[in-house]
Amino acid sequence: APISAPDLSKCTTGTDLNTNQPLDVNCCPPPSEKITDYKMPPVTTLRFRPAAHLASKEYIAKYEKAVELMKALPDDDPRNFIQQANVHCAYCNLTYPQTGDSALKLQVHNSWLFYPWHRWYLYFYERILGKLIDDPTFGLPFWNWDNPDGMVILEMFVKNGSPLSDARRNPAHLPPVVADLNYSAQNSSDPSPDPSQIIRNNLNEMYLEMVRNAVKLEDFYGAKYVIGTEPDPGAGTRGSHTALHVWVGEPTTTGEDMGNFYSAGRDSIFFSHHANIDRLWSVWRGLRGEKPKEFTEPDWLNANFLFYDENKNLVRVKVKDTLENEKMGYTFQKVHNPWLTKRP
Ligand code: C2O
Repeated sequence: APISAPDLSKCTTGTDLNTNQPLDVNCCPPPSEKITDYKMPPVTTLRFRPAAHLASKEYIAKYEKAVELMKALPDDDPRNFIQQANVHCAYCNLTYPQTGDSALKLQVHNSWLFYPWHRWYLYFYERILGKLIDDPTFGLPFWNWDNPDGMVILEMFVKNGSPLSDARRNPAHLPPVVADLNYSAQNSSDPSPDPSQIIRNNLNEMYLEMVRNAVKLEDFYGAKYVIGTEPDPGAGTRGSHTALHVWVGEPTTTGEDMGNFYSAGRDSIFFSHHANIDRLWSVWRGLRGEKPKEFTEPDWLNANFLFYDENKNLVRVKVKDTLENEKMGYTFQKVHNPWLTKRP
């Protein structure tokens, strides 16, 4: 049977997966009496997600305002910035039992739920921001780190006093240091290699993840995960995704903020990182031609989750409604994908 929405009342303190110790924060969401099945609102104007490195001053100011308002919401408002970060924690740090097999925990990473779950997560986050600034066309900026022009932590995320900046990052990776898509904590000596070599390696890595190594559906999406499966059955080809989390976070065992599941959403860059992952999912589908673009198994299509929407309603959403971003009401700025021709 498909993974089903958790029972929020069964949420417990989770586990720090970097240290395997109990978490010292409680990331369980506020309760709600009512759950409704989510109805996708009719799409009138598409929200536009710009490449962060191409975003205008006006757009950045608007985004800063929205995040500032989100941070100013009451602590127990499910749309509050920390509450939103806790959504990631709750679904990732083993806080919920699986509905249907209480001996096992729910974990949305390292399985075929990765892309759809994060798509819903960003979907509501974006709608909350849009609502706070009263702009129904607002779209999140994507961090275009698979393009040499976007391969640094962008200025908007490091500006002093900006609600988009975060002190808990690796100080050795601030701009203009080129992001390393093959980075890992085990291999983190930062010998300041030639940036143009890092760029070449990054583009090769993207080609491998998006083309050569992503042939079968499970190669790309990750392994099957249903009720009764142990968490972490297997990730898809997204080493770059994980590498960047670790690369941005502090160089400590716990790796806050970006390098640890429970805290990743406390860094605004998370949502731009994942907006790019979300775009790459759509790009990959576009590259498939006649080959299958998604699983047809009901165990995938009917998997479902709970989120608070922009009106604080707790809603149930399904994987099958995530397949096309335009049907969900948003589109991406068209950018060139330079790795397509970078076969190693
Ligand atoms: Cu939910 Cu980038 O991790």
